[in-house]
Amino acid sequence: MANTETADAPEPSRRDFLYVATGAVAGVGAVLTVWPFVDQMNPDAAALALAQVDVDVSSLEPGMSLTVMWRGKPVFIRHRTGQEIADSAAVPVESLPDPLARNANLPDDAPATDANRGTEGREAWLIQIGICTHLGCVPLGQQGAFGGWFCPCHGSAYDTAGRIRVGPAPENLPIPAYEFISDTQVRIG
Ligand code: FES
Repeated sequence: MANTETADAPEPSRRDFLYVATGAVAGVGAVLTVWPFVDQMNPDAAALALAQVDVDVSSLEPGMSLTVMWRGKPVFIRHRTGQEIADSAAVPVESLPDPLARNANLPDDAPATDANRGTEGREAWLIQIGICTHLGCVPLGQQGAFGGWFCPCHGSAYDTAGRIRVGPAPENLPIPAYEFISDTQVRIG
């Protein structure tokens, strides 16, 4: 009997990943369920702007990613490796097709340095809206010539900071407003 129990024990990393994914979907589901009632009350813009998603990222080891839905859009959350950060930081901003950070948490004219694509003290985390800035396809993660995201629709390649490097996409992937509300929880929106 003891051997049977051992064999049935869940494999930890797989289970953790599923937990994170399921929890995120459940959170978004709750938001979507409430939405029709809010909509009936004709909320003003300020009320609509409050839509937020809290995500538990505690199970994301470096090199792991998670996609959650926020305001109807996919948001890529990536715990970057040290190599991914170093690769991005080594690129001169002047060489980038889009030199702006496109980070809703920073001024509009903030340059697209690696640091400005994240948030202070959480440099390993990249949180960005997963919609190609060309015509709106959803790029594929950890693919393409720059090790970041690749959009197969027309061949746009983004780097490990989500910045457009080649292809027709005109801008870096946008970074939504977010904040870490604890060491393991990020609030998007
Ligand atoms: Fe991504 Fe065209 S929609 S390259």
